[in-house]
Amino acid sequence: MSEDRKIALVTGASRGIGKAIAGNLAADGMFVVGTATRPEGAAAVADELGADGTGVVLRLEDEAVVGKTVAEIQSRYGAPLVLVNNAGVTRDNLLLRMTAEQWSDVLDANLTGIYRLTRPLLRGMMRARWGRIVNLSSVVGRMGNAGQANYAATKAGIEGFTRSLAQEIGSRGITVNAVAPGFIDTDMTRGLTDSQRQTMIDRTALGRIGTVEDVAGVVAFLVGEAGAYITGETVHVNGGLYAG
Ligand SMILES: NC(=O)c1ccc[n+]([C@@H]2O[C@H](COP(=O)([O-])OP(=O)(O)OC[C@H]3O[C@@H](n4cnc5c(N)ncnc54)[C@H](OP(=O)(O)O)[C@@H]3O)[C@@H](O)[C@H]2O)c1
Repeated sequence: MSEDRKIALVTGASRGIGKAIAGNLAADGMFVVGTATRPEGAAAVADELGADGTGVVLRLEDEAVVGKTVAEIQSRYGAPLVLVNNAGVTRDNLLLRMTAEQWSDVLDANLTGIYRLTRPLLRGMMRARWGRIVNLSSVVGRMGNAGQANYAATKAGIEGFTRSLAQEIGSRGITVNAVAPGFIDTDMTRGLTDSQRQTMIDRTALGRIGTVEDVAGVVAFLVGEAGAYITGETVHVNGGLYAG
């Protein structure tokens, strides 16, 4: 790894959108540290990235573990100046039936997890007077979705977090943006029935489900030079499922 190569940290890089983001940032010349929740996942991330990165185990629920993992990454590879908070979970249920655990699991991983990981990485970006943070939101943070009050609350929260942090650290050359995908073909959506999938496709102006590349390209744009003057924004990548 060359000294001047930027380090990018991508959470949830073992599958889906995060895997595509990690691949794009590596292709753009960064050394990518991609996370997975299990050692086999981390090993697969490392295999996939080859000389352009590595995989580490990270679960966002435990603040002490997150802090320790960040310290290890910094001492081994250097301070990540690019952070993509991609990892996310769903525990869907109608609110009337939603358990306290379903509520708190999603809040903890999706929203508090971003707080836990972003905060210890800010110092390195501030020292470098350069940084890029991209947070994965969702179209449901804006639209709402029956059965996803917990998940939609985290995604709306991520957008408020993004706007606020952008104002706090813009003067240090750090941009903070959110990307809000629509209906994308990953494990997260593969559990839907054929008729649920067709309904979503029918509601999407472009008439197709999105690909992981549709989202990863926008993340790479925000991280790259072309996105340098964009901060505090949420970029919607939903094929016209929602506009507003
Ligand atoms: N797919 C969509 O249609 C869609 C739409 C809107 C927004 N999004 C958002 O886009 C992001 C990526 O979604 P995806 O569909 O690519 O997800 P996915 O295929 O379900 O993959 C989730 C990734 O997050 C990791 N992860 C899960 N729980 C974690 C935890 N507690 N701590 C740390 N990492 C954890 C997983 O690691 P393991 O492999 O180890 O389990 C995996 O790498 C999420 O934030 C999601 O909310 C997705």
